Amino acid sequence: SGPKETSLMKIYLANPRGFCAGVDRAIDIVDLTLKKYGAPIYVRHEIVHSRHVVNSLRQKGAVFVEELNEVPDEAIVIFSAHGVAKEVWREANRRGLKVIDATCPLVIKVHNEVNRDYTQGYELILIGHAGHPEVIGTLGQIPDKFHLVSSVDDVERLQVENSVHLSYVTQTTLSVDECRDIVAALNRRFPGIKGPHQEDICYATQNRQNAVKALSKLVDLILVIGSPNSSNSNRLRELGEDCGITSYLIDSWQDINPEWLNGVQAVGITAGASAPEVLVSEVVDFLKRYGPAEVEDLTVIEEDVEFQLPRELVSIEPVGA
Ligand code: F3S
Repeated sequence: SGPKETSLMKIYLANPRGFCAGVDRAIDIVDLTLKKYGAPIYVRHEIVHSRHVVNSLRQKGAVFVEELNEVPDEAIVIFSAHGVAKEVWREANRRGLKVIDATCPLVIKVHNEVNRDYTQGYELILIGHAGHPEVIGTLGQIPDKFHLVSSVDDVERLQVENSVHLSYVTQTTLSVDECRDIVAALNRRFPGIKGPHQEDICYATQNRQNAVKALSKLVDLILVIGSPNSSNSNRLRELGEDCGITSYLIDSWQDINPEWLNGVQAVGITAGASAPEVLVSEVVDFLKRYGPAEVEDLTVIEEDVEFQLPRELVSIEPVGA
């Protein structure tokens, strides 16, 4: 049967959604580096976890690699927004590669916390998800004494050498609620453990999660636009489910199964920090083709964060100017 003519579907767009300041900056860095030095420009790891963004930069001449041994000598290489281990910097320097660093300043902040605590003799704990590039980069700031925990159970099992001189940091894109439970467990097991002054979970992650909580009070389906390897996007989908709303992670409108819309009166749409706004518009257009719909913004906070570009790129005229 075709789309229902009778019922008007309500579409709520979460705000904030989509690009954060770190992603914006990382994409600008690739664009401006291409403009300044010309293709090919090598990028170690997907600059941000978005298939759409990576494909469009690839078309402009960016070459994405996983490891530096895939980069020719004397080439220019950009480090992705997720940050890298110290060994990656050392290897780049040994090889004489020219590095332009697109690591998000909020990830650098975590690296600085790790290096400071390590120098002060702390044994460190990272709350994060094994295998994610940000976690690999943060763990790779120091040579040893670093434990990774991803759950309250991990905290219960954790064996440390020095329970008096312990500190923790976190991945920037965790579930705020889950992280709070893990921190509480750490404080129970290791009273006096030192933590970051201010949350390591970044403003963008927190705001996007708060917006999903607000959405979940109004809708019966949540679509999160983001790529499957995007940590913050996965957390948004899980949060929707935790709030009791059926939630799907989609890379684009093409992933929508029309059966999901059966009987749905209100759809909430959000996008992970690496997902461009064009993908949101395409999803809205798709839903409007499916049946009569009315779109409304649901704003929980206005964001005005912006990060500076690396100095050598500041003088390049903005792309599209
Ligand atoms: Fe940075 Fe947070 Fe975005 S750490 S890259 S501002 S998701």
